[in-house]
Amino acid sequence: MTITITTPLYYVNDKPHLGSTYTTLACDTYARFQRLQGKKVKFVTGVDEHGQKIQLTAELNNLSPIDHCNNISSLYKDLWNRWNITNDTFIRTTSPRHQELVYKFFDRVNRSGDIVIGKQTGWYCIGCEEYKDVSDSNKPTCPLHLKELEWRDEENLFFRLSKYQNQIESLVSSPTFIHPNSRRNEVVNFVKKGLRDFSISRQNVKWGIPVPGYKGQTFYVWFDALLGYISALIEPGAKIDLDRIEDFGWPASVHVIGKDILRFHAVYWPAMLLSAGLKGPQKVYGHGFLTREGQKMGKSLGNVLDPKELLEQYGADTLRWYLLSDISFGKDGDFQLRRFKDLVNSDLANTIGNLLNRTSTMSRKWFNNRIPTFSENTGNISILENMSKDTIVYTIDRYEAMDFKGVSEKVIQLASEANTYLNENEPWSAIKSKDNRELVGYYIYNVLETCRIVGFLLSPIIPEISLKIIKQLGYKDMPLNWTDDLKWGVLKQGMEIPESMPVFLKLEN
Ligand code: MSP
Repeated sequence: MTITITTPLYYVNDKPHLGSTYTTLACDTYARFQRLQGKKVKFVTGVDEHGQKIQLTAELNNLSPIDHCNNISSLYKDLWNRWNITNDTFIRTTSPRHQELVYKFFDRVNRSGDIVIGKQTGWYCIGCEEYKDVSDSNKPTCPLHLKELEWRDEENLFFRLSKYQNQIESLVSSPTFIHPNSRRNEVVNFVKKGLRDFSISRQNVKWGIPVPGYKGQTFYVWFDALLGYISALIEPGAKIDLDRIEDFGWPASVHVIGKDILRFHAVYWPAMLLSAGLKGPQKVYGHGFLTREGQKMGKSLGNVLDPKELLEQYGADTLRWYLLSDISFGKDGDFQLRRFKDLVNSDLANTIGNLLNRTSTMSRKWFNNRIPTFSENTGNISILENMSKDTIVYTIDRYEAMDFKGVSEKVIQLASEANTYLNENEPWSAIKSKDNRELVGYYIYNVLETCRIVGFLLSPIIPEISLKIIKQLGYKDMPLNWTDDLKWGVLKQGMEIPESMPVFLKLEN
């Protein structure tokens, strides 16, 4: 079975910012974890290139929409490369295979009798590309984009969402569909108020896929973009056949998105798929926002942090560590540079880096550049062995739940315990007596084995640092999956270990 993981398809109205990078990092971590579990993974990302917002931005830049899209989508691709994102595919909604899929999908929905012509009036936010429910009709503004809404009055095609009221109500109420749990109620309440048909085309937006048979109408950007999750899976050159999409990894195991676009994914999208006779996503995870000074970081608000600059200055793993270990995925989190530096210095340089460094130095010095050897009955079962076993089970469960903070805390606890173990057993004093050689070897082995497990467990979050950790212990590469190696006692006694080199250099304050 394939595990299909998706990021949102990002609007190309501006270059990528740290908010969109955050979602992608979380998906990358989850994808890496699933691969290490021996699963076949399809990790989808891409860009959403149509709609009025993009059209207007291109005009502002004096570019044709497609030239503008080419520029920004290559910035996204380049950024994901720099961050070592392991996506398997990257979809652009302007690609011909996507357009063909949109037509085939629309045809199915139309044949289900779910397309009707109707009038749409209301307040529209171009930033959200969405009609807003507002009671105040006197120049209302969008709470997210802080911009005035526009009054619209148009004739469009509508999708009969109301027909799927019962099925969607039972879907969103299911405890397995919307995550985290705290977000479920808001969607259930919205659905219970009664679903209204929604417009899936626009009359005056030129930059979109034309609706076949309805002159002057283009597909509403959301109807078009959601389908990108499926077109992304179809390999280039393969025939577009909606009856065969399961061969390519559909349905998605999880759509990871920001909380702002939960309704589109948990309500509209599953109903569209029902109408087309296709399976819906198994899970939707709506994470929180990264804020800066308490305000949502967003392109339209102009308060974004540039992920490329941050990466060049601090490196990918430090930022991955901060964003995933310090902020509860699902809740909002405020980016603070000071806290970022303190946290990575304390966790990665002090707790993990120093532990490995001092222990491997002792090992090389007293055991001839090798992992120590000792006979079977040396010492009692160490606390580190028990704790490592617990940590492995707990961590796998937390990764599965996308609780990256839970993973990090538990692994740091294990590394701290190993530091305490060294301080209590004082191998540097014990080694002074020749009789203690085996016992000292045993202490050191326990700590090095703990470091190996720490390196393995953290590799989905901090892949580069983890690799450095296990290379210090004589591994050439991270194994492709954890099945054989993620257990206690695998580190080979007597194996040669390389010269010590710091796995992570402290960031200057
Ligand atoms: N194009 C649509 C998605 C279509 S999916 C078929 C869209 N794009 S977006 O670029 O505006 O935002 C996409 C996502 O970026 C948000 O839902 C969220 O996942 C992420 N983020 C944007 N700003 C963010 C923060 N400040 N913090 C965290 N993530 C945020 O909506």
